[in-house]
Amino acid sequence: MSDTVDDVDLPYDEDEASQQEKIQALEERLEVLESQNEEMRDKLLDANAENNKYQQKLERLTHENKKLKQSPLFVATVQELTDEGVIIKQHGNNQEALTEVTEEMREDLGPDDRVAVNNSLSIVKTLSNETDVRARVMEVTESPEVSYEDIGGLEEQMQEVRETVEMPLEKPEMFDDVGIEPPSGVLLYGPPGTGKTMLAKAVANETNATFIKMAGSELVHKFIGEGAKLVRDLFDVAREHEPAVIFIDEIDAIAAKRTESKTSGDAEVQRTMMQLLSEMDGFEERGEIRIIAATNRFDMLDRAILRPGRFDRLIEVPKPDAEGREIIFKIHTRGMNVADDVEFGDLAEDVEEASGADIKAICTEAGMFAIRDDRTEIRMKDFHSAWDKVQADSDETEDVSKTFA
Ligand SMILES: Nc1ncnc2c1ncn2[C@@H]1O[C@H](COP(=O)(O)OP(=O)(O)OP(=O)(O)O)[C@@H](O)[C@H]1O
Ligand SMILES: [Mg+2]
Repeated sequence: MSDTVDDVDLPYDEDEASQQEKIQALEERLEVLESQNEEMRDKLLDANAENNKYQQKLERLTHENKKLKQSPLFVATVQELTDEGVIIKQHGNNQEALTEVTEEMREDLGPDDRVAVNNSLSIVKTLSNETDVRARVMEVTESPEVSYEDIGGLEEQMQEVRETVEMPLEKPEMFDDVGIEPPSGVLLYGPPGTGKTMLAKAVANETNATFIKMAGSELVHKFIGEGAKLVRDLFDVAREHEPAVIFIDEIDAIAAKRTESKTSGDAEVQRTMMQLLSEMDGFEERGEIRIIAATNRFDMLDRAILRPGRFDRLIEVPKPDAEGREIIFKIHTRGMNVADDVEFGDLAEDVEEASGADIKAICTEAGMFAIRDDRTEIRMKDFHSAWDKVQADSDETEDVSKTFA
């Protein structure tokens, strides 16, 4: 209708009518704007709330960041709750201190609890019980997946380990009848990669004993101040899981000669070793627990750990001879697609000085050479190239292997 409005000379009342219309239009517009405004305010509110959330998150992260940058906390054990405060004993230096705690925290504390303390020795928090520490250092498995058939060239060693570890676990009554104490454990020693760890696992597997593994180096480096306690825990866990085989790998880390360990944690290492010795001596309470330890640094061991009654057998696990190498080659190529030209006897002669671990590496590398050559069958020359590569790789890390004299 408005197309006529402009052309015609409008009388007053009509003009007024159009004014009315305009006002109405404006009012409608105003309403729309108001509702839009309302909407905007809502959105702004939402945004503010969101902003608040981020602000809080930022604060939390800043706080966490600060905490992370703070000096580390120390671990201590609660000795006693007295009226004056809580007596704690710091790990590592064994210093005792009296510290105050809030009522709230006091209720949660008991003797022997582990707590974290700061520089001024105030208790910052209580630590969850040691089971998670245990879990981090110890590996408890019902039965590892290694069997005697996976081990090559160690017949004699295998026989000895079985006699000392398996027999007493399976026929304890025989030892009773004969009237001798069953052997407590064996120490396996020899160069790296010769199958010591494997041997321990295989025994645990064949005996259905629980296998509890602890690495000496972890004990010393990761849990400073807790070594002795962890050794105690180790034997506790074993007692809970009888029959059990405790396997202490890299025992040299805890049982090094006094003169040769120059680390600052020396006293701590000593305490850890003392605890180990006393656990090993506590024969009656040991029950169905056998100990297997391994080291590739036999020369470094403290003689105390080798005294009779501790390890009944010291078993050397040397690098394999040619015959052993041939068997190990066959073991590690069981699932591989090997060409007819491959003579394991010859190969074993060629890879003089190779350890079991080296042979495993050679087999894998040989497979890689075949793949690179776009073949699915592994030929003799692949094994030779692989041996060259493995030797070159180990030359780079020669310093490490030379430590074994
Ligand atoms: N006698 C062997 N027969 C078959 N495989 C072997 C043998 N020795 C070593 N291997 C291979 O090498 C790998 C490493 O061996 P293992 O961990 O038992 O060596 P280790 O003697 O414990 O060495 P380290 O002193 O460095 O701990 C094994 O997983 C296995 O694949
Ligand atoms: Mg090992």
